Amino acid sequence: MNTPMTTSKFNRPINAEDMVRTPDGIALLEKIRLRTARVAVMGLGYVGLPLVQAVHDVGYPVIGFDIDRSKVELLNAGKSYLKHLGDELTAKLAGSDRFVATDDAGVLADADIIILCVPTPLGEHREPDLSYVTSSTEIVARVLRAGQMVILESTTYPGTTRDEVVPLLHKGAERRNLELNSGEHFFVAYSPEREDPGRAGMATSMIPKIVGGIDPASGALATEFYCSCIDNVYPVPSAEIGEAAKLLENIYRAVNIALVNELKLVFDKMDIDIWEVIEAAKTKPFGFQAFYPGPGLGGHCIPIDPFYLAWKAKGAGLETKFIELAGEINQHMPAHVVARVMESLNDDSKSMRGSTILVIGLAYKPNVDDVRESPAAEIIKLLHEHGSIVKYHDPHISTFPSMRRYRFNLDSVELTESELSSADCVLIVTDHDAIDWSHIGKHANLIVDTRNAMAKTIERENGCHARVIKA
Ligand SMILES: NC(=O)c1ccc[n+]([C@@H]2O[C@H](COP(=O)([O-])OP(=O)(O)OC[C@H]3O[C@@H](n4cnc5c(N)ncnc54)[C@H](O)[C@@H]3O)[C@@H](O)[C@H]2O)c1
Repeated sequence: MNTPMTTSKFNRPINAEDMVRTPDGIALLEKIRLRTARVAVMGLGYVGLPLVQAVHDVGYPVIGFDIDRSKVELLNAGKSYLKHLGDELTAKLAGSDRFVATDDAGVLADADIIILCVPTPLGEHREPDLSYVTSSTEIVARVLRAGQMVILESTTYPGTTRDEVVPLLHKGAERRNLELNSGEHFFVAYSPEREDPGRAGMATSMIPKIVGGIDPASGALATEFYCSCIDNVYPVPSAEIGEAAKLLENIYRAVNIALVNELKLVFDKMDIDIWEVIEAAKTKPFGFQAFYPGPGLGGHCIPIDPFYLAWKAKGAGLETKFIELAGEINQHMPAHVVARVMESLNDDSKSMRGSTILVIGLAYKPNVDDVRESPAAEIIKLLHEHGSIVKYHDPHISTFPSMRRYRFNLDSVELTESELSSADCVLIVTDHDAIDWSHIGKHANLIVDTRNAMAKTIERENGCHARVIKA
């Protein structure tokens, strides 16, 4: 091996030769440096599929493994199921002799590096649901051999990699009467995914990667691997620090969003526009970062991940008051929005029952087709409960997909003059770029705007036909 020490922009050199001393570790290090290591990505969703691209692009042979056969078939046919990634990526992968998608777990035996990108949702009582992590680890445990490295990327509480993943791997080896020790024969690390689907100009390879091993050899091997396919890598002393860092990032967002959501209610009562307040505060060149209010949290991360830590802390007899309070405030937002719709209709001498509400945007954030945990679903449920007739328009979602807790038989309507003018209230939930706000302003009667989407239109066009209420 002739490649010297790995460095990153963060200036944390790792001298892999000093850390990796066993024959299996040295063999894996060599395969990484030669890009001959076979990399398997388990879970080909929002996180796994872009990761496949980053790893494939630098020359590794890649196996994409998913238990969802429809995804595997689409990938092998070169078709995309994640709109924001486009067809070009899937067409390129299908045409590559270095990529195969499969649901055959036996193929994982050939992989040198196995990366788990499986879901980590919450259970019924907001407890961590690690079933996807444990079931995917068990699949790996059945084929585990010397010279492999397993990396967990799913967001989870500190200790998951060491206390949940590693014992399952050891058990799998024991069941097959193999003496495989972590840090010696096989290696395990944690590296949190920080994907932001739909963010332009930010490929997976450009997002700095935190990497921590369960032992120094695992940390060094995982750092070496990520340095080969990600622009900037930040090694940390343990898997637990990596797990905790990811949670800090998401808790920071959840708490700050809750803060502006609470201030929105307070300022609103004082007739002060929170959006103007944030614009003014933003002019401070230090010590302030802008967060924006909205109709409630959505997506796979921010509404869920903080409760992984809250649960873990409870086990240690500790309370996480910030997390609980932020959760409470953010979860109240859909009800607040519906109350604003009710008050606004009341001002027009209309009741919620029998009124037509046209919801603009289902996705949890702009310019994506992802409805996971979207506040739009809870808002529509509440509107139905009040007897309203609900329609929706989302340029990225033609039919309301069935969700774990919500099922609506709704298709996106066209934003025609007659749809807009016949709605008693147009409720803006998601501010997709593709929506023509001035068209809405021209033809709607009443707009309840949770995203300040109409502000620019009103400024530019010196007023619009509709009465606009911020919520
Ligand atoms: N979506 C994001 O923006 C984002 C960002 C950062 C981190 N994360 C984290 O990354 C992880 C994955 O999230 P995602 O958004 O990619 O989820 P996803 O639901 O889009 O994809 C997960 C995939 O895993 C597959 N899967 C489930 N069990 C499996 C198994 N045993 N073996 C193989 N495949 C299996 C599913 O079929 C699915 O295709 C989560 O922990 C999430 O918190 C997500």
